[in-house]
Amino acid sequence: MRNAIVLAAGKGTRMKSSLPKVMHKILGQPMIGHVITHLNEVHTDKNIMVVGHGAEMIQDYLKDQVSFALQLEQKGTGHAVLQAIDQLDPTGDTILLYGDCPCVQSETIEWLFESNQDYDLTVLTAFFFDPAKYGRIVRDKKQRVKKIVEYKDCSKNELNIKEVNTGIYCFKNEMLIKHIKEITNNNAQNEYYITDLVEIFINNGLKVQAISVKDNDEVMGVNDRLDLLNAQRWIQKKINNAWLDKGVTFINPLGTYISLQTTFDEDVVLYPNIYLEGKNHIGRGTTILPGSFLINSKIGEDVTVDASRITDSVVGNKVNIGPYAHLRGHTEISDGNRIGNFVEMKNAKLGKNTRCAHLTYLGDTEVGEDVNFGCGVVTVNYDGKHKFKTKIGDHAFIGSNVNLIAPIEVGKNAVIAAGSTVDKDVPENDLAIARQRQENKPGLGLKYIQKK
Ligand code: UD1
Ligand code: CA
Repeated sequence: MRNAIVLAAGKGTRMKSSLPKVMHKILGQPMIGHVITHLNEVHTDKNIMVVGHGAEMIQDYLKDQVSFALQLEQKGTGHAVLQAIDQLDPTGDTILLYGDCPCVQSETIEWLFESNQDYDLTVLTAFFFDPAKYGRIVRDKKQRVKKIVEYKDCSKNELNIKEVNTGIYCFKNEMLIKHIKEITNNNAQNEYYITDLVEIFINNGLKVQAISVKDNDEVMGVNDRLDLLNAQRWIQKKINNAWLDKGVTFINPLGTYISLQTTFDEDVVLYPNIYLEGKNHIGRGTTILPGSFLINSKIGEDVTVDASRITDSVVGNKVNIGPYAHLRGHTEISDGNRIGNFVEMKNAKLGKNTRCAHLTYLGDTEVGEDVNFGCGVVTVNYDGKHKFKTKIGDHAFIGSNVNLIAPIEVGKNAVIAAGSTVDKDVPENDLAIARQRQENKPGLGLKYIQKK
């Protein structure tokens, strides 16, 4: 059996935040979400997360992706693991991860499981030029691991050790269950350290090894805001490099922020200063220009998105969006559309080759094919209490500055004259005009101007 325990009960005092540390976001996703995403890429039979500080928030975020153990008081990492111990399978291996280590990759987790086959405990280590506040790996003359010493408990000599504990381990369940209660809190922080198990296992004649990670940065722990920024930079570079490799062009990847769950087809061009959060897919040949923010949206092929925000929406092929458009609330744009500047759409569905080029709001609206919207069309969908629907048939022509007071239906081939406020349905093929007639007063214009 393969188990995993993820520790996420700590407050994260050094973050100086009311948010639990592991809920701080990297590329739009809480740190703990990164850990779980990579853990889920590895085969395990059971994943247990230890929560305490901000437990409800974390449970609400991860729902049934893992099972939970509660650590009411944070008495150290050893005490945290103890809270999960009853949920472990009696035999097999357990990977232990810390929720504040968001860069760790699935290959590393898999490698640790495999490395522990003939061992009772495998500790993953790293070499840091500045080992700072990490626990130090103490080895004997034969380079065998002896113990882990927390920096607060280190002697002067031990502080000089550059090999550190990453906080990633693989235990034989049987031995973890058997020996965890032997950990004491006799140390500088009066905490129960899981790291003490190295010495305890060795004293009991068990097989312990410490092996080092290939990329030291992969195991950086996030304890403050600078660490968070460094972890983000590392993950950002990793994601962007992978997409470069798969045929995506970046103008400047330092300014392009892509979530783990976003995917691309070939020949996408990404300008700097764009954010792609949540689960997006971007189709072949599409270009995303600066100032765009996409969340949980699907964009088709050969689309241009220019300085626009698109949330929870779907865009077809050969569509031009923006500059400065805002699509949200499950909007669906079919192929060949043109959505221009200062256009907002909420829960709008547009048929093929429709044009909505300037200063328009469409909310709760269903539009057919080849419809033309003039400048400044507004669907009046809200009466202060309820939302109402607007329906517009194929080939309709909606003039500039038209208000459509919903609920309303405009038939196929209907025309609405510019400046009209319509509150009655417009039948197929008809022309609606709803504005006051103009009156011209001869000579009054000149008189007015001369007075000034
Ligand atoms: C820990 C390790 C240290 C290692 C470093 C790597 C111990 C004793 N120390 O130190 O050797 O170099 O990580 O990043 O393990 N947590 C709980 N309950 C608690 C205490 C902590 O769930 O009672 C969780 C925290 O939420 C966090 C993780 O365990 O996700 C690590 O705790 P933290 O206090 O950050 O440990 P470090 O001092 O970084
Ligand atoms: Ca830490």
